[in-house]
Amino acid sequence: MTDATTLLQRVSELEAGALSQIDAAPTTDALEEVRVAVLGRKAELPNLLRGVSELPPQERGQVGKAANITRGAIERRLAERKEQLAGAEEAKRLAGDRLDLTLPGSPQLHDGALHIITSTWRDIEDVFLGLGFSVLSGREVETAHYNFDALNHSPTHPARADTDTFYVNDDVLLRTHTSPMQVRAMEIYDPPLYVVIPGRVYRRDYDATHLPQFHQVEGLAVDKGITLADLKGTLMAFARAIFGGELAIRLRPHFFPFTEPSVEIDVACFNCSDGWIGTERCPVCRGEQWLEILGAGEVDPNVLRAVQRDVYHPEAVQGFAFGMGIERIAMLRNDIPDLRLYIENDVRFLEQLR
Ligand code: DAH
Repeated sequence: MTDATTLLQRVSELEAGALSQIDAAPTTDALEEVRVAVLGRKAELPNLLRGVSELPPQERGQVGKAANITRGAIERRLAERKEQLAGAEEAKRLAGDRLDLTLPGSPQLHDGALHIITSTWRDIEDVFLGLGFSVLSGREVETAHYNFDALNHSPTHPARADTDTFYVNDDVLLRTHTSPMQVRAMEIYDPPLYVVIPGRVYRRDYDATHLPQFHQVEGLAVDKGITLADLKGTLMAFARAIFGGELAIRLRPHFFPFTEPSVEIDVACFNCSDGWIGTERCPVCRGEQWLEILGAGEVDPNVLRAVQRDVYHPEAVQGFAFGMGIERIAMLRNDIPDLRLYIENDVRFLEQLR
């Protein structure tokens, strides 16, 4: 049996209990649990309030009013506590996420840049594109036929030794130079042919002056009536574009199996011919006054014959060829003392050549 006094008493107990639970809730999640426990559908207080309807009518007003005040007090306290806890939780989250935008940036960051081999490769290509040459590329895994036989190497030529050349099998190897593209280019394209072929090459060598993998640019010009004078004019334009100034070049007799006559080409030392006033000998050419930059020559008739096409018959056309090492050109141009600097990727080196 419900009577007003017991009901009011229980209501005030529940209020006191609810308020102290609210004040003790440590987090917004815990507070939500308290809310469900004191005001939720299954909680005692709302159910008691429903019992008000069973009271005699003259008592209902007093108890109903007290009950509403209690409910209002609990709801207000819940809202206050929620705001308090949410504020503290937000502040804690922000403190954990803090990023101080006023701190200085990392001094260890480095901008990317082209490797000196890549930029030299592109500079060389640009010069020959400007002279009317086209750029081709070739395969790095070659046959002995294109790497040696078609280039007029005798069967006993020392470069064929497996101590010098990386073989895949008896007939297949990693190309030792870009020259095999001479014959491949002539097989594909008709004359007149003016091409340069940059790319990677491989040899079994590794010390301060040799890398097992390095880069060359091959050049080939085949046309009617090509002479050594065309070779000289072309390479003089190249040397001046790459090393700067009105530099002279000189041709020294040499031997390559695939050119006849063959020459090595030197460029006047750009350091001493460009006003070197030091009292010691020039550090770039070591006092020689000339720098060897590449090998070249007139295409040997045997190479033209190896193409096996009438349009390349030695009576029909003549040509010149040349081959240079990109590492060597970059070393001369940038005063780089040791080939191994190219592959060590030390940022102190890379940054100087940016
Ligand atoms: N293939 C030669 C080498 O690797 C370089 C070379 C010399 C290429 C003379 C040529 C040339 O085209 O005519 O050492």
